[in-house]
Amino acid sequence: MEFKIAVLQGDGIGPEITNAAISVLDAVAIKFGHKFNYRFPLIGGAAIDRDGVPLPQSTIDECKSSQAVLLGAVGGPKWDNLPGHLRPEKGLLGIRNALGLYANIRPALLHSELKGASPLKNEITKNGIDLVVVRELIGGIYFGERGLRNSPNGKQAYDTEAYSVKEVERIARIAFDLAKNRRRKVTSVDKANVLDSSKLWRTTVAKVAESFPDVQLENMFVDNAAMQLVRDPSQFDVILTSNMFGDILSDEAAMITGSIGLLPSSSLGDSKCGLFEPIHGSAPDIAGKDAANPIATILSAAMLLVTSLDLPAEATAVENAVKRVLSKGWRTPDIYSTGSKKATCSKMGELIALEVLNA
Ligand code: IPM
Ligand code: MG
Repeated sequence: MEFKIAVLQGDGIGPEITNAAISVLDAVAIKFGHKFNYRFPLIGGAAIDRDGVPLPQSTIDECKSSQAVLLGAVGGPKWDNLPGHLRPEKGLLGIRNALGLYANIRPALLHSELKGASPLKNEITKNGIDLVVVRELIGGIYFGERGLRNSPNGKQAYDTEAYSVKEVERIARIAFDLAKNRRRKVTSVDKANVLDSSKLWRTTVAKVAESFPDVQLENMFVDNAAMQLVRDPSQFDVILTSNMFGDILSDEAAMITGSIGLLPSSSLGDSKCGLFEPIHGSAPDIAGKDAANPIATILSAAMLLVTSLDLPAEATAVENAVKRVLSKGWRTPDIYSTGSKKATCSKMGELIALEVLNA
């Protein structure tokens, strides 16, 4: 079959990791007899440099006319001093919003091949880590009213956390649906001991839970959740939370699995066209050095195959290829330890592509 994929390479290591993912997708195309037509619209700093804005309308249009979007990463020191509305990150928030991608799914899995890479002690990871953060992505404080005003103490800046029942319901349903096919537990994370938005979040989630009698609902305050993640991560199955709490907890969840360079994500809305991206950033310090870990992007491409293109066998082929390359001892610098084989970013892409072809 033929598919159109928008590849938003972005900044920093973005082009390197998306190129590695494309080499794997090309292998999938050969192996399974598909044709992937890639478009490369600009986003982030790259778009600012060409068009003066982080998200040109032409990029939104290209994404909307594609069946899926693969994204690298945006941002870098070059654009750090621009005003807020012109920063590369605004491009990322803008495309999530323009495509209505309210559900951000971030699985954190401790690969058995990489147990040693987790910074947690063995006795804590012995029961494994296999959780998914379901993060609300286009509401909350990221999109609430913000600005500058005068206060009795002089100039004051403010940002607003606001959630409607509808916004909470739709993300909660995604979390419960996901839990149904996993270990059937949803931990809803909030700050309901302080915030009104969290109180509404909590009562709304409880209502949604009534339609999922087979799934256990647990509520947890965000500070406790941050602590429980390092105390006993095996207690979590699906973590359901707001935009900002999800941003923070998903970095923590990624780190305890050993490398932020390994974790993919999908961002979904009501249409089939999702956006798939690694959860890490643009790593300007190693950009252009062929040293990045492309696995998170390659696994994001696997999520793209199954979720937006309905190609589950192809997605499994990519996941298995990643496992085989890791079990053969290949490592990018971020997960390298003595005795393993060193791979650059592009080499890792080639190795995984070869495994797909030779499976
Ligand atoms: C993420 C990132 C973004 C976010 C930034 C780059 C705007 O941290 O995808 O987690 O906060 O959503
Ligand atoms: Mg983040």
